[in-house]
Amino acid sequence: MIMRLFTARLLKHLGGDMKIQDFQKKKDSNKKISMVTCYDYTSAKIVHASDVDCVLVGDSVAMTMHGYTTTVPATVEMMVVHTQAVARAITRKFILGDLPFLSYRKDLNSNMDAVQLLMQSGAHAVKLEGAIGNIELIKHVVHSGVPVMGHIGLTPQSVHQLGGFKVQGKEDAAAQELLEQARRLEDAGCFSLVLECVPSALAKRVTDSLHIPTIGIGAGPYTSGQVLVFQDMLGMQNDFQPKFLKTYMNGFDAIKNALNDYHREVEAVAYPDEVTHCY
Ligand code: KIV
Repeated sequence: MIMRLFTARLLKHLGGDMKIQDFQKKKDSNKKISMVTCYDYTSAKIVHASDVDCVLVGDSVAMTMHGYTTTVPATVEMMVVHTQAVARAITRKFILGDLPFLSYRKDLNSNMDAVQLLMQSGAHAVKLEGAIGNIELIKHVVHSGVPVMGHIGLTPQSVHQLGGFKVQGKEDAAAQELLEQARRLEDAGCFSLVLECVPSALAKRVTDSLHIPTIGIGAGPYTSGQVLVFQDMLGMQNDFQPKFLKTYMNGFDAIKNALNDYHREVEAVAYPDEVTHCY
């Protein structure tokens, strides 16, 4: 009994069923990695019960859960609250925490404080956007025992510099630049990297050139794995339908219809039922 409890605790600390080494093992054995974002306890309980490999507490939380139009308003405090909520439910999956806007572009102490806060909130690794200017920090974080996932292509924290949420790496020079950034991230010690909104041919080139696995979103089928935003893939945001997105249910209508059923039953005094729902 004590042994089982100890093993369960250890698994939680190491990222549960999917451990850091399994990312590489999956790429090496041609098995795809599935990742989904998650930001709250109730959704995390559902993700936890699913077969999805790993969870990202993404800074997309600022848009999805807080209604901002970009990820720029995400703060370390916001990420901490959501990472803690997810980690309370997810005890057997690998959890990544996103370092939010500018939280890793300051002095080393402040950058490391942000990393520390996310890890102590329950993340098993951190993700940060871009290669330029981040290489020394990534080496330091990795040498401090914290796994780092890179993120290139469309890097939403730079949306104002990119001039919008657009596909990246379409021109030869831009594609070459992204390939070089990917190599630099791998050399710095990233265990994996996200490729967001790049042509699938470029995603394939990057994935084939790297030893570490790539996780794609809007990057086609040739990456080592895929990530989607929970609310997007469940069709809960009917005003967000980019080409790359597949919705696996119509969550918006399903929830709206349930709310309407409830409303009608309250009006008709059909709920609560005197036998089933009363003390
Ligand atoms: O924050 C997020 O949801 C992300 C994914 C798009 C990879 O970074």
